[in-house]
Amino acid sequence: MTDKKIRLGLISALQEEQTGLIEQMQRKNSIRRGMRDYSAGSLWGIDCVCVLSRMGKVAAAATVATLIERFDVTHIVFTGVAGSAAQQVRVGDIVLADNLVQHDMDARPLAPRFEIPLTGISTFAADASLSAVLGQAAHDFLAQDWIDAIESRDQLAFRLKMPRLHRGLVASGDEFITSADKIFALNLALPEVLAVEMEGAAVAQVCFEFGIPFAVIRTISDNANESAGIDFNSFLERVAQRYAFNIVKRMCAGLCMQNSR
Ligand code: ADE
Repeated sequence: MTDKKIRLGLISALQEEQTGLIEQMQRKNSIRRGMRDYSAGSLWGIDCVCVLSRMGKVAAAATVATLIERFDVTHIVFTGVAGSAAQQVRVGDIVLADNLVQHDMDARPLAPRFEIPLTGISTFAADASLSAVLGQAAHDFLAQDWIDAIESRDQLAFRLKMPRLHRGLVASGDEFITSADKIFALNLALPEVLAVEMEGAAVAQVCFEFGIPFAVIRTISDNANESAGIDFNSFLERVAQRYAFNIVKRMCAGLCMQNSR
């Protein structure tokens, strides 16, 4: 990846998306800044700083800026859940963001829809090498760990069957989407969108501006339709943490191998 030693900023919006990681940390030191706890330490051999951003683009942007400026992270990974925005993307699948867009950015007529004013940019590309390690971790998790990591009653309850890994465009905005019509309208404007969430593209913009490589990975918790709220809450409670924990574990092992080469 680089010759420089990695110090990884690991962000999730909510506690359930990061459960177990802080407990796993060695040589842990927690510091509170701007109403958030930043836990620095070692995770499976990788120097990490874990933090919960809470939901939304402003919360995510403030958290990433703090990680970069006060905690000197060299790379950022965001893990969490998302709503599906494409037929082929099902609850329990994983979406690795190749690109991210802020679907609620609209400064027309000053700039085209979705373009961040004064940058000329509407989609931010995730770092290819970091995403490759993360993608391999997610792939291996699904192929090797998933069947034992997710309780069979949850596999049944959420109708999870051979979940798949997708890569592509993720759209972020300050709205929890609970309407099939909204997803339809979003698909008309941005046909390639695979998933919707509320932080990734804000993280992407800040990382782009600071020149920090980043990756975003999301487990699909709901279909962003009228039942999204209920599905989201139960998925978070029962399943999300098992994905995040195991994928981060495998990713750290992958980064360690790269570091030692
Ligand atoms: N994150 C998980 N599900 C979501 C949804 N339906 N809308 C926005 N963000 C989400």
